[in-house]
Amino acid sequence: MSGIVGYLGKRNALPILLDCLDKVDYRGYDSAGVAVSNLEHIELRKTVGRIRDLRSLLIREPLHKGTLGIGHTRWATHGTPSVTNSHPLTGCDERFIVVHNGIIENYPYLKRKLIKQGHDFATETDTEVIPHLLEEHDTGDLEETVRIIIPMLKGSFALAIMSKEQPGIIVAVSQDNPLVLGFGKGEAFLASDIPALLPLTREIRPIKNGEIAILSEGKVTLKNMDGTAIEPGHTLIEWGLQDVMLQDYEHYMLKEIFEQPKAIQETLSARLKEDRVFLPELDELWNEEEIKSLTRITIVASGTSYHSGMIGRKVLQKLLNLPIEVNFSSEFRYEHPELTEQNLVIILSQSGETADTLSALREAKKYGCPVIAITNTAGSSVSRKADCTLYTKAGPEMAVASTKAYTSQLAILVLLAIWLAEKGGWHGAEQIPELLKWLKRLPGDVESTLIMTQDAIDQFAQLTYDQENIFLIGRGLDYVLALEGALKLQEVAYIHADAYAAGEMKHGTMALITPGVPVIALATQQEVLEKTISNIKEVKARDAFVIGITTVGDDLLAEEVDEVMYIPSTHPLLMPILAAVPLQLLAYYSGTVRGHDVDRPRNLAKSLTVE
Ligand code: F6R
Repeated sequence: MSGIVGYLGKRNALPILLDCLDKVDYRGYDSAGVAVSNLEHIELRKTVGRIRDLRSLLIREPLHKGTLGIGHTRWATHGTPSVTNSHPLTGCDERFIVVHNGIIENYPYLKRKLIKQGHDFATETDTEVIPHLLEEHDTGDLEETVRIIIPMLKGSFALAIMSKEQPGIIVAVSQDNPLVLGFGKGEAFLASDIPALLPLTREIRPIKNGEIAILSEGKVTLKNMDGTAIEPGHTLIEWGLQDVMLQDYEHYMLKEIFEQPKAIQETLSARLKEDRVFLPELDELWNEEEIKSLTRITIVASGTSYHSGMIGRKVLQKLLNLPIEVNFSSEFRYEHPELTEQNLVIILSQSGETADTLSALREAKKYGCPVIAITNTAGSSVSRKADCTLYTKAGPEMAVASTKAYTSQLAILVLLAIWLAEKGGWHGAEQIPELLKWLKRLPGDVESTLIMTQDAIDQFAQLTYDQENIFLIGRGLDYVLALEGALKLQEVAYIHADAYAAGEMKHGTMALITPGVPVIALATQQEVLEKTISNIKEVKARDAFVIGITTVGDDLLAEEVDEVMYIPSTHPLLMPILAAVPLQLLAYYSGTVRGHDVDRPRNLAKSLTVE
C-alpha cells in the first residue's frame, strides 16, 4: 500500500501536495516523491524515507512553482525502498509520469513483452510497466492512451498519471483500490483516503471501477472507460478538520485511545433509543421471515478487525442459536464452508479497503450470501459492494494501530446481535434488557476505565521497558482480548508478546515462564474467574511477574498477583470493550518508552490494499 495525492488549481501545488502526503503517510512511509507542472514543464523529486525527508530534499533541490501535480508515499511491495523504486515512476523517455497504489499482477508478462519491444527497465517495481505501456501505445492524447492500456492491466490499482506532452492534465483511474476526488472552487484534489482531503474540502467522490477522471482547467471530468461522460455527484463528508488534527496530544494513537468514549457514544446514540435497538439500514434488507430462515453467520476480517470478529462471534453465540464462525479474510477463499443464500456474512473493516477482505466479500457474493459490512469509512469499497453497511462513527483513525475503530466495531456488533435476536426471536432474547442497560452506560464506563488505568499502565510500561517478552493470558472473552493486546504490543512496542488461553499454558508454553517474565492476566469474566486464578497460581509458582486486570469489587485476584489493576464492572459481553483500554495504553506507553514512532510502526501501513 501506498498513498497517492493530486492537485489541480490556481495555487502553488507543492505545499498542498506535501500537506496531503503527510495525511496519507500512514499508508506507507518507505519513500516519497512528487511531480509538479507549471503547465509547460513537469519536474520530479523523490527520496527514500518519509515526507520530512522529501521536504528536506526539496529545500536542497527546489522544484519550480506549478499549479498542478501528483505525489506518492510508498510501502514497498515489489522492490526495496530506494530512490530508483520510488514513485513517481517514468519509462524510457520520461514522457509519462505515474504514481500507483496496488499491485499489477501480470507485470512479469507485460515486462517481458515490453523488453522484447525495446523498452529498458530501471526499477524492480511492478508499476514501471505502466509508463512503458503508455509509451508503447501513445496516441498523443493522454486520456485516450490511458484508456487503451487499462484493460491490459490485471490486479488492483489506483493510478494518477501525467504526461510531459500535456502538462496541464492529470488522469486518474481506480480498479479495486481506493482513490477519492475532492472538489474545491476552481480546484480539484485526489487522495487515497478522505482524511487527506479534509483540510481542503469535504465534498468528495470516490472513483469507481471502470471510471476515468480527467483533472484539467480547474475542473474534473468523469467518464466511463468507453468515453461517455458521468455526472460525478458529490458526497459531503461528516468528518471535520479537528478530527484529523493532533490537538494537544503527542501522538494520534493516544488521542484516538482517549476519543473512545465519544466514538462509542456516536456509534450507539442514534441506534439505541427507549430500550430498543434501531438499525434502519437492515430493515431494508430483510423481513422477519428471512431473518428467521438464516442458517449460519460467517464473520470475515483481518488483524484487529478479526479480533473484534472473534469477540462478535461469542456475543452472537450468546444471543442466537445459530452456528457462527469467524475467518481471516486472507484464508476465507480457501477454507470457507458451503455457503448458501441463508448464510449471513458480516464483513468487518475499519478502512473498508483491505484487499483480502474485499476478495472475501466478492467470494461471499458469488454464493448469493447476504452481506453486511461494518466499516468506519463512508463510501469505501467494502460499503459499496456489501448489501448493506453499518457505519461505526469513530471519526477518522489516523494512527496505524487501530483503537477507537476496534471498540466501536465491538459496540456495533453487540447492537447487531441484539437486533438479530429480537427480530429472529432467538433464545438469547431474554438477556437483552440487561445488556441494553449496560450498553447505555458504556461510553461513561470507557471514560472511567481511561481514568482508572492510565497512570498505572504508564508506570508498568516504564518498569518493563527492558523486557523483550510478555505473555497475556485469559479465558473465554478474556483470551480473545489477550490476542488483541498482544497484537498491539507487537505492532507499536516491537515486543514479542504472545496470548494464550490461560488453561493451555500447562500444555507447553509454561516452559517459557522464567523468573520475572511479565504476564498480564485478564480476569474480567466472572464465569471463569476461579479457573483463571488457578492458572495464575501456576505461572506465579514459576516466579513470573504477574499483573492482573479485573473488575472493581473483585477481591480474589489481588492476593494472587504482583499488581492488580481495576476497571469498572459491566455486562460480561461488554467487558472486552473496557478491558481493551488498558491494553491499548500499555502498547502505547511501551512503544513510546522504547522510543518508537507509535503512529507509524516499522514495516506496517494502514489500509492494506494488496493481498
Ligand atoms: C492493527 C490494525 C490492523 C488492521 C487490519 C485490518 O492495529 O489496525 O491489524 O485491523 O489491517 O484493517 P481494516 O480493519 O481496515 O480492514
